[in-house]
This record gives sequence, structure tokens and C-alpha cells, in this order.
Amino acid sequence: MLPKEVLVQAQAEMLNWNGSGMSVMEMPFTCDEFQNIATQARINLKLLLDLPDNYHILFMQGGAYGHFSLLAMNLLGKNKQADYAQTGHWSSRAINEAQRYGDINIVTSSVETGFDHIPEQSKWGLNKKAAYCHITSNETADGVQFHWTPGTDNIPLIADVTSDFLTRKIDVPQYGMLYASAQKNIGAAGLTVVIIRDDLLDQSMDITPTVFNYGEQAKNNSRVNTLPTYSIYISGLIFRWLMDLGGLAKIEILNNKKAEALYAVIDNDEQYQCAVKPAARSNVNICFNLTDRSLESAFLKEATSLGLINLKGHGARGGIRASLYNAMPQSGVDALISFMQDFSAKNG
Ligand SMILES: Cc1ncc(COP(=O)(O)O)c(C=O)c1O
Repeated sequence: MLPKEVLVQAQAEMLNWNGSGMSVMEMPFTCDEFQNIATQARINLKLLLDLPDNYHILFMQGGAYGHFSLLAMNLLGKNKQADYAQTGHWSSRAINEAQRYGDINIVTSSVETGFDHIPEQSKWGLNKKAAYCHITSNETADGVQFHWTPGTDNIPLIADVTSDFLTRKIDVPQYGMLYASAQKNIGAAGLTVVIIRDDLLDQSMDITPTVFNYGEQAKNNSRVNTLPTYSIYISGLIFRWLMDLGGLAKIEILNNKKAEALYAVIDNDEQYQCAVKPAARSNVNICFNLTDRSLESAFLKEATSLGLINLKGHGARGGIRASLYNAMPQSGVDALISFMQDFSAKNG
């Protein structure tokens, strides 16, 4: 979901942005109007994150999946070694891609137990020579989330924050780089945000395409080639919406409340089960199963008929998944809870 206020504003400005006589879709990325939109979006994102000056915000394309390769090309450096935590579907994809470019050490993995927890740090086998250590802060498909930040000494920590970026406070200085596709909480598909510390730029492999070279993009204010202009505009509206709401501290409180309410129903009703251990449960993607799996399609069908849509679990996992991104109101969660209780009573 996107916030309704944002969609309404985009609708109002669709044909003529701010008296410019142009739709944002019609603007050249080099014109002053679009430069103002992009600059304001960057300023507001910096404020939301309390971002120190030694970090760059890059507005790129490629999607987080593309950046699984691109970050390896940009960051593996000379000895081409990196550490990865394997905690679910997306970190496994990130590992597969990085393995094309270097020597990848899996510092920890929960694959054996079906990605139901995040192994504690004392069990991680970090490589002191790694160029970076990569984590997936929220495993969108598995419903697993980091609720702590791994310590990696001087090795830069890189996080794919695609599905929980801007859903909670984050202490950016603990990371060398964060990256996220826009389509969960930042806006519309097409934009990939990369936030990277100065000292990690300019160590890219020669094969790195110029438009995907983080150093080049940082030097050129993300204008090496045409930016995903409309997505950046929508993201700018979302950043403003978040600021007006009270920033990340406030949205985190609202998001925690939504997740707690839903997990309480799952845990207190024998008809539902969540396989993820409580300490690693995602507050964003709540993944669960019906105890009687044969009722799953009836559950999904009835939910859809009530307007509770897109509850089918990720293809890699099956089951049910409620994605409680920022724009999902408490009333949406309450409606799901009420349906789950009715469904359980009817089928219990
Ligand atoms: C955590 C995570 N990483 C990467 C991706 C891939 O994003 P994209 O399809 O934008 O490349 C997704 C998509 O859902 C995701 O949830």
C-alpha cells in the first residue's frame, strides 16, 4: 500500500506539477523543476535518517536483486572476499549473485531449520579479510527480521533493507551501506536507493557498468544517466508524509503495534501457527500457516472477498503472509484479525 494522501497529491499534480505546465513524467531529468524535486527528496530522506555528512544517497535503478551483483562489483575490492549471513530467501539470492564475483564466506546460516531464526552473533564465523559483511535486515519471504545489529569490527556492514527501510529507526553509522528497492515502503517500483559511506566509493571492478558504479553516481549526484524520475517524485512525497507523521520513531511505534496485535492472534489460536522463533519475527511481513493446510485456499478466497488482498505467502514459502508496510493502517490489521477469528470459529 501507499498512503492515500500521497496518491491523492500525485493525482492532483499529475497534469501540471507546481504550475510548471508539465507532468513530472514529462520532465527532462536535467530540468530545474526535476532537480528541485530530487534535491528536496534527498534532503528529507537525510533528515528522516539523521544521516551524517559522510554518507551519499544514490538514486539508482536495477532493483535490490540487481544490486546483489552490483554491490559485489563495487565493494569486493582487491582480495575479493566477503561475508554473508544466510537467513532466508533473499539473502540466499544475494549470496548466489555475489558468488559470481568473489570468494563468499557464509558466516552463519539458518537453512537447516527452515530459516526460522537468526543465529546469535557468537556463532558467526567472520573472516577478518572480508571486504564487507552482508545481511538482509528483513527477510520478506520468510518473515524473519534482525532486531539487533551485528558487530563486525572494522569490516563494513552492508544491509539489504528493501522490506523494512523507513519502518523503524536505524543507526546508519553502524553500516557501511544500506540499499533498498522502492516498492515496499519508499514509493513506486523503479527506484533503488543506495546509502553509502564515503570511504567505500571508488573501489569498483573494471567490469562495473558506469551507470552502476557507486563512485561515479556519487560524484555525479546520481545523474550519470536518466533517473527513474517519477519514482523519485513519489518517494519524495512519501518522505514528506513520514516527516509529517512524526518520523521513524513514530512509524516504528505504529508498526510494532500492528505486528503485536496480529502475532497475538496467531499465537493464541490453535488454527494458526507461526514457524519463526519469537526473537526473530518480522514486524513487517507476518508469515503464518493454517494448522489444517487444506483450509488455506478457502482462507485466501474468503479474505479476498472481504477486500483483504495479497495474503498469499511468497512463492518460495507458501502459507499466508500479511505485509504490514508503513501505509497499512491499524484498521486494516484489525479487519484481518476479525476475519481470522471468524474463520477460526467457523472451521474450528
Ligand atoms: C529483501 C529483498 N531483497 C531483494 C528483493 C528484490 O527486489 P527487486 O525485485 O526490486 O529487485 C526483494 C523483493 O521483494 C526483497 O524483499
